[in-house]
This record gives sequence, C-alpha cells and structure tokens, in this order.
Amino acid sequence: MNSFILLSLFATIIAAKSPRLKFVLHETSRFHFTKPENYISMYHEEGSDMLYVGGQAVIYVLTFTDRGVREIQIPVASDQTAIDTCKAKAAPLELECDNFITVIQKVNDSFVVCGTNAGSPRCWMLVNDTVLTDVQGYQIASPSDITPPYPSQKSITLSSDGNLYSAISSVGGHAGSIRRTFGSQKLLKTENIWLLNPQFAGAAIIPSEQKFREEIYFFFSEMNKTARVDEEPYRARIGRICTVDEGGTKSLLSESWTTFFKARVMCGAGNTQQQYNNLRQAVVLTAQRAGVLYGLFSNAWGKTVICAYSIEDIDRAFSTSKLKGYSSSFTGTRPGMCVRKNPATADSPNNIKNLGVIRYHPEIEDVIRPVGVAPLDLPSEDQITRTVADLVPAVNEEHYSVLYLGTEQGKVLKVLHTREDVFIISQYSLFHNEGPVINMAIDPQKGHLYIGTAMEVQRLPLADCGRYGDTCRECILSRDPYCGWEKARRKCAAIPPGYNASTDAFIQYLDKSNSSVCGEAAALKQRRTSPREVLVQSNTSVFLPCPVRSFHAIYRWEKDNCIKNYPCIFSGDFCVLGPVVDTPLKEGVFRCMATEDGFKVEVISFKLRNDGWLLAASLASTLGPSLLLAVVTLWLH
Ligand SMILES: *[C@@H]1O[C@H](CO)[C@@H](O)[C@H](O)[C@H]1NC(C)=O
Ligand SMILES: *[C@@H]1O[C@H](CO)[C@@H](O)[C@H](O)[C@H]1NC(C)=O
Ligand SMILES: *[C@@H]1O[C@H](CO)[C@@H](O)[C@H](O)[C@H]1NC(C)=O
Ligand SMILES: *[C@@H]1O[C@H](CO)[C@@H](O)[C@H](O)[C@H]1NC(C)=O
Ligand SMILES: *[C@@H]1O[C@H](CO)[C@@H](O)[C@H](O)[C@H]1NC(C)=O
Ligand SMILES: *[C@@H]1O[C@H](CO)[C@@H](O)[C@H](O)[C@H]1NC(C)=O
Repeated sequence: MNSFILLSLFATIIAAKSPRLKFVLHETSRFHFTKPENYISMYHEEGSDMLYVGGQAVIYVLTFTDRGVREIQIPVASDQTAIDTCKAKAAPLELECDNFITVIQKVNDSFVVCGTNAGSPRCWMLVNDTVLTDVQGYQIASPSDITPPYPSQKSITLSSDGNLYSAISSVGGHAGSIRRTFGSQKLLKTENIWLLNPQFAGAAIIPSEQKFREEIYFFFSEMNKTARVDEEPYRARIGRICTVDEGGTKSLLSESWTTFFKARVMCGAGNTQQQYNNLRQAVVLTAQRAGVLYGLFSNAWGKTVICAYSIEDIDRAFSTSKLKGYSSSFTGTRPGMCVRKNPATADSPNNIKNLGVIRYHPEIEDVIRPVGVAPLDLPSEDQITRTVADLVPAVNEEHYSVLYLGTEQGKVLKVLHTREDVFIISQYSLFHNEGPVINMAIDPQKGHLYIGTAMEVQRLPLADCGRYGDTCRECILSRDPYCGWEKARRKCAAIPPGYNASTDAFIQYLDKSNSSVCGEAAALKQRRTSPREVLVQSNTSVFLPCPVRSFHAIYRWEKDNCIKNYPCIFSGDFCVLGPVVDTPLKEGVFRCMATEDGFKVEVISFKLRNDGWLLAASLASTLGPSLLLAVVTLWLH
C-alpha cells in the first residue's frame, strides 16, 4: 500500500511538468523530401502560404493548401571542379562538398540566395520564384562573409530595411564576424579582437519608437580555446549594434561598427555551479522595448534548457553599464549610442575618443541574468533542438507568450509561459519518421507553424481549439491563449483577430487551471456515463481500459458507487484496471474517474456480469487477457 502512495505522489509531481495533452497527427499538410536533407534553411513571409526551403543543391518552393502541398524545385548545383577541389582538401567534410543553400532572404523586393558551393560560397538573386541570376547593381560583400563554406558551420542572416546582416561562426583559421553584407547602407564588420571563436545562435531586431534607436541583437557563444581543463570554455553572449551605424572615421573603425557591445549571459540556478553556457538558439518576442528573449542553452553533457530574459534589462545594461577594463568616466555622449552620423562632428575629439573606447573595450561589465533567476521548468527527458515563440493577445487584453519547442524525437511541445509559471499545453507527434526537428518558422498573422526534419516539412495551425473537447471545462483547462469558450455556439473556438473584449463572447482563463469560470460544477458532479456491459467467466481475467486524455488529471476506478477506489495497474494512454490483490473484479459496475482542478469527472464505466457463453468471455479464455483488452479498446473508438 505504501508503495502505491509513493507512486501516486511521484506521479503528481511529474504530471505538472509533463504535457497535459498528447496528440498524434496523421492527416496534416506535409511534404516529403525525395532525399534526406540534413541541413535546411527556411524563409517564410508572414501572411503567405509559401515556404522556401534551402536544401542540398536545391531550393524547394512549397505552397501549402488545405488539400496538400504544391512544390517547385529549383536546382542549384555546384560546378564539378568546385566539388573535386573540395573533396581533395576537405576530407573530413567530404559529405559537405556540395551546394547547400544556407541563405534565402528577401531584401526589399529581391530574393538573395547563397549556398556553400562545395567550399567556395556563391550568391544569386532569385527572380519570379523560378530563375537564379547573378547579383547585379547592388553592393554586396564577399559571399564567404554571408555563408560559411560548409553547412555544418552555423551562420545567421537577418534582413532589415533593405539591408542584409550576416553572422558567420568561427572555424579553423577564420575568426568569425558580424557584418552588414548587402543593401543601401555602408557595409560594416566586427573587429577580429571583439569576438572569441563565436558560434552564432540567432539574431533579432529590437525596434524602437524612434527609428534611429533601432538595434539588432546577435546571440552567440564564445569559446576560450586556452581555458584550463577545470575551466568552463564557453560563454554565452549577446552582441548589439545600431542599424543607423555607418562606421567610424578614416583613421579609426572606418569599415567597422561603432556601436558594437557584447554582454555575458548567464543561464542556470542563481550563482550555482550548474550553469548552461552554450547558447544554441535564441528568439525574441518584442513589442517596442518591452519584450522577452528566450535562449536555448546546453551544458557540457548536452542537456538542454530554456532561459527567459527581459529585453528591458538587457537594454538598460547596454546603455548604463560600465565597460570592462575602462574606469575613466565618459565625457560628452556615451560611446556606442545609436545616433545618426553627423559628418560635421565625426572628427571631433570627443567622437575620436569614443571610437577608441569602443575599439578596445567592447564588453560591458553587467551580466545578464534570467527572469526568475533559473531556467524554465520544462520536462527534462526531452532534448530540445529548435524553438520559436509567439506573443498572443488574450481575452483579458493582455499578451501571453507561447513557446513551440521542437525535440530530438521529432515532437513539438506547445508551452504557455506566464509571469507565474510554465504550463505545457500539449505535445504533438506529427512525423512518420522520428528524427530531430531541425528548423521551424512561425506565422502569427496567418496562424501557422512550419516544422522541418531531414525527411519532412509540415504545417500546423497555431489555434487548434477543436482538439480540446466539447465542454467549457475542457476548453478552459487547456490554458491555450489562442482558444476560448464561445458562449453563443457552445464551442471551444479560436479567438478572432481584433476581438473586442467588451462583447464578452468568449470565456478564457490563462493564469491558472481554473474552470470555475465555466460555472458548470453542479452539472459535472451529476454526469454519468452509461455502463458498457462485459460478460465474464468466473475463471478468466478481465482488464478494463480507461482512455487517458489529460496527463495532469489523476485517474482512479470506483466500484458500485462505493467510496473505495482502485488505482490503475499501469497507465500511459490508458488507465487499466486489472486483477491484482484486493481488486474484486467480479460482478458490478466499475467507473473510471478523472480528477483535475478539484473536479472529479466520470470518463467511462463498465458493468461486469458473470455469464458462460458470450463473446467477451470466450474470447478471453481462448485468446488471453491482452486481447480482451485490445477488443475493448477498439470498441471505445
Ligand atoms: C519575371 O517575370 C516578368 C513578368 O512575367 C518577366 O518580364 C521577366 O522577364 C521575368 N524575369 C526572369 C528573369 O525570367
Ligand atoms: C530598398 O528600398 C529602399 C527604399 O525604396 C532603397 O533606397 C534601397 O536602395 C533599396 N535597396 C535595395 C538593396 O534594393
Ligand atoms: C582563456 O583562459 C585562460 C586560462 O584561464 C586565460 O588565461 C585567458 O585570459 C582566457 N582568455 C580570455 C580571452 O578570456
Ligand atoms: C467594443 O464593443 C463595445 C460595445 O459592444 C463598443 O462600444 C466599443 O466601441 C467596441 N470597441 C472597439 C475597439 O471596437
Ligand atoms: C477562478 O476564477 C474565478 C472567477 O474568475 C475567481 O473568482 C477565482 O478566484 C479563481 N480561482 C483561482 C484559484 O484563481
Ligand atoms: C473455465 O471454466 C470452464 C468451466 O467452468 C472450463 O470449461 C474452461 O476450460 C475454463 N477455462 C480456463 C481458461 O481455465
């Protein structure tokens, strides 16, 4: 008995961290690659149904419809001499000696496409979604500053206001850099000493009400190759530049950023040793300066966690912190502020002095720490490979953060992050072949999530309200900010864009699991299911299955409306009642009850009757108990 209590206690603790619902999808819009694509880049424009996927020597232009996916393939082969040279010199990377498309970006109305071209990068313009032409008429950096020569080397590109920004990770003899690589503004770069073997993880535009104060944050890890064995070699970093930056003077930082600063980012519990220093990927949710940064980190053992940061905190640190190794005070304007270049004062002593400070002191002293001073409380068994996020307007006129986490096993977790807690709304299993999620793109305007593995690309609706059930209680307990209980139609439905809260048409409650807003308590207590009859011979074993919907609920069996209840002998997708000691599985009515949010609801019931000759019993005795279970399971559907 004690072990039962222990077991159920344990189950409750685990339950809160596990996804509440698990969905297995079979019929969705999906696209299968004809060959495995181990490196894919994605470009999606919000509001469209098109997804551009860069693969090995090919660009897939996919158009998703309700009936399926239309595709155009644009071949982009590298020339044979490049492949031969590559194979001769890059033995360990031989499989990467091809043209992997790493960059597809729209700059103004032109598509810029770059590929690794078997170790000697090249760029093109994509015209009319079909034709690749050479880049003409625009200033463009060397292709090797826009894409790395091999696809396993991480790079980041971002397009903003008719300019392209590129961050290339360090590898071999290359230092790694952050550059403006294409467009109408001056092409700029980082100084080599500013970055220490950076490995890039993401970039985001941080908008501002005043256009000239707009910034771009770059996320990366640095590695100290000469660190001692007992020292952590990785440091997670945020680097920042202003988009108005036009470089320094002729003598100082003439081709370089004059607004670059970097900060150390911590992810771990307080000041403990357990820190996650390897930043793998980062996404920003922002509405002006009040925003949140989510970073995906790993430690030396490859365990992944997510930390959240306030953009306001980061912004404050960059604009007020002392600079490492610089103790004098600043005279005049602080170095590195976002200001439009003024040719008249460019050579002023104060400006020259500030450029010198930036040149030699790129790091700020303040360290960026996560909100809640710890990683988000997520299931630890899932290795997270990719994340995207959305800021969802809710019925109470607040905005809620929803994270989508792609895992090593090809699943997607949908997670609500509130000020108070982290709630795992659901888990989707959506691929035929289990494999890591390697890329995702989100379209909040159209309400779609695109997910790619090496074998498939799929699209999911963000508002998937129909799956939550047909009662108000089930709808509310889902805690999905996209969905609410529509009073008039008595349905769990998507909150329409621009919903007017004063119309009071939808019920929603997101801060806690709280279905009392439905006012159905009395109705729930009385609801009974009609028992399904099972006929059993006295000498056979019976197993009764109860389908588990919510993994946050506690399932129990009750007999003959008696107070006494029986635990599941095993649970997973079913809570099964079977013949164990003290369980009188003979005649009587057995009811499966699920308790969640303080309410007990009857899920299913069975009436067992002793009888010699009928179907269930004879099946049981000839084919065995597991088959009886299977038969019962089938008829539940
Ligand atoms: C793109 O389409 C336009 C209009 O159909 C056509 O005039 C133009 O020649 C096309 N460009 C290329 C490069 O095919
Ligand atoms: C993008 O558009 C802006 C404004 O129309 C223009 O000034 C700029 O030259 C364009 N840049 C490119 C790369 O086409
Ligand atoms: C790298 O680690 C070594 C050994 O601790 C240290 O002496 C050196 O200053 C570090 N380099 C940087 C750039 O932090
Ligand atoms: C919302 O609805 C109320 C009454 O139904 C109306 O008075 C108000 O103008 C509406 N607000 C907006 C922003 O549409
Ligand atoms: C649940 O919601 C109701 C109605 O809004 C509210 O009165 C109650 O305090 C809430 N309960 C909890 C535990 O938050
Ligand atoms: C169960 O009992 C019946 C008669 O009581 C007998 O014919 C049958 O063989 C028994 N089945 C098993 C599996 O023991």
